[in-house]
Amino acid sequence: MASRTHLGFAPLLLRYVSLVLVASLWPVTAGRLSPAACDLFNGSWVYDESYPPYDSESCPFNRREFNCLRYGRPDKLYLKYRWSPNGCDLPRFDGRDLLERWRGKKIMFVGDSLSLNQYNSLLCLLYMAVPNQKTNSSDNGTLKTVIFEDYNVSVMFYPSHYLVDIVREKIGRVLKLDSIQGGRVWLGADVLIFNTWHWWPTRGPSQPWDFIQDGDKILKDMDRTEAFSKALATWASWVDSSINPATTEVFYQGISPSHYRGQDWGGSPKDSCSTQTQPLNASTYPAGPPPQEAIVLYTLRTMSKPVHYLDITFLSQLRKDAHPSKYNGVHYQNDCSHWCVAGLPDTWNQLMYAAVVSRK
Ligand SMILES: *[C@@H]1O[C@H](CO)[C@@H](O)[C@H](O)[C@H]1NC(C)=O
Ligand SMILES: *[C@@H]1O[C@H](CO)[C@@H](O)[C@H](O)[C@H]1NC(C)=O
Ligand SMILES: *[C@@H]1O[C@H](CO)[C@@H](O)[C@H](O)[C@H]1NC(C)=O
Ligand SMILES: *[C@@H]1O[C@H](CO)[C@@H](O)[C@H](O)[C@H]1NC(C)=O
Ligand SMILES: *[C@@H]1O[C@H](CO)[C@@H](O)[C@H](O)[C@H]1NC(C)=O
Repeated sequence: MASRTHLGFAPLLLRYVSLVLVASLWPVTAGRLSPAACDLFNGSWVYDESYPPYDSESCPFNRREFNCLRYGRPDKLYLKYRWSPNGCDLPRFDGRDLLERWRGKKIMFVGDSLSLNQYNSLLCLLYMAVPNQKTNSSDNGTLKTVIFEDYNVSVMFYPSHYLVDIVREKIGRVLKLDSIQGGRVWLGADVLIFNTWHWWPTRGPSQPWDFIQDGDKILKDMDRTEAFSKALATWASWVDSSINPATTEVFYQGISPSHYRGQDWGGSPKDSCSTQTQPLNASTYPAGPPPQEAIVLYTLRTMSKPVHYLDITFLSQLRKDAHPSKYNGVHYQNDCSHWCVAGLPDTWNQLMYAAVVSRK
C-alpha cells in the first residue's frame, strides 16, 4: 500500500547537482508537445493596471504558506504583471466559463507543494469568479476536495512527492521507482495535473524514504536525477496504459524554479528572492534551464497518450519577485521556492485554461 505522504514544507533546497552530462543526452526540442502556432511559454511580463485578477484577502481557501499580503508583504508591484507570450495573446482567465466547461467533473492535482500552490490558486480563481458561490470542502488526511456546488465541480489535491510509491517494509521506507499504486485513486478524475521533481534532491532528516528499489535491486541511494528519470518513465507508462484520453485530460506541470542565488539571474550572490520586487526582463534566463527539464521533455515525447505540458519553467524563472520570502504564516525565514497567491500560479492556471479552451 502506498504510504501516506505528508506534505511537509521542509525547505526545498534546489541545488541543481552536476547533471549537465545526463541532460545533454536528450534533445530539448518540444516536438509534438507544442503543436500550437504560437509558443505560449516564451514571452515577457508586462505591467497591467487591472491586475491582480482577485483580492487574495477575500479568498477563504488561501493557505498561510502563500498568503503574502496577510503576512505583511509591503510591496505590491509583484501582483501587477501579466504574462505576454511573443506574437500572440493568452486568453484572459474566465473562471465562470471554466466552471461551466467543467460542470460535473473532477479535477485532481497530484504532486508536491508546488502542485498545492497551483491548486490553491485555482481554488481562489474559481471561487472569486462567481459571487456568493456555495462550496463544500473536505480533507480526509490525504485527499483535499473543494466542491463548487452550483457547477458540481470537484477540485482535489492528492499529495505525492515522487508520483511513485513509498512503501513501509521490514527494512524501512522504500521508494519504489517502478510502482504506482496511488494511481487507483487518480483514475476517478476527469482532469489530472501532475508534477514532481523538488523532493528528488532532498537528503537528511526530511528525506521521507530509507531505500530505493530499482527493478529488483534495493539500494541505499543512487543518482537522484537518474532515479527521477526512472520514476517519470514509470508514470509515463502508467498514463499510457491507464488513461482513456476520450474521458480524461492529463496535464504535466513543468519544473518550478527557486530563487536563492542572485547570480542565477545576473544579480549579486548576496541576493535572494527576498530583495526582489520586479521580474527579470530577458529573453533567456542567465542560469539556463534546469537540467531535469530535458528529462521531462524526453519522457513526454516517448508517450503514446496526449499530455498537455505546462511549460512554466522559463516564465517562472523570470519571477524572482513572486516568492513569499519571509511573508508567510508558517515561519519560513526565506521561502524562495513557493509562490505568493495571488501571483504567479494564477498564470499557470491561465495557461491551463488556454489549453482547455483551445480544444474546441
Ligand atoms: C524565447 O524567444 C527568444 C527570441 O526568439 C529566444 O532567443 C529565446 O531563446 C527563447 N527562450 C526560450 C526560453 O525559449
Ligand atoms: C523589456 O525590455 C524590452 C527591450 O529590451 C523593452 O522594450 C521593454 O519595454 C521592457 N519591458 C519592461 C516591462 O521593462
Ligand atoms: C456531481 O458530479 C458527480 C461526478 O463528479 C456525479 O457523480 C454526481 O451525481 C453529480 N451530482 C449532482 C447533484 O449532479
Ligand atoms: C459535502 O460533500 C460530502 C461528500 O460529497 C457530503 O457527504 C456532505 O453531505 C456535503 N456537505 C454539505 C453540507 O453539503
Ligand atoms: C482519502 O480518500 C482517498 C480517495 O477516496 C482514499 O484513497 C484514501 O485512502 C483516504 N484516506 C484516508 C486516510 O481515509
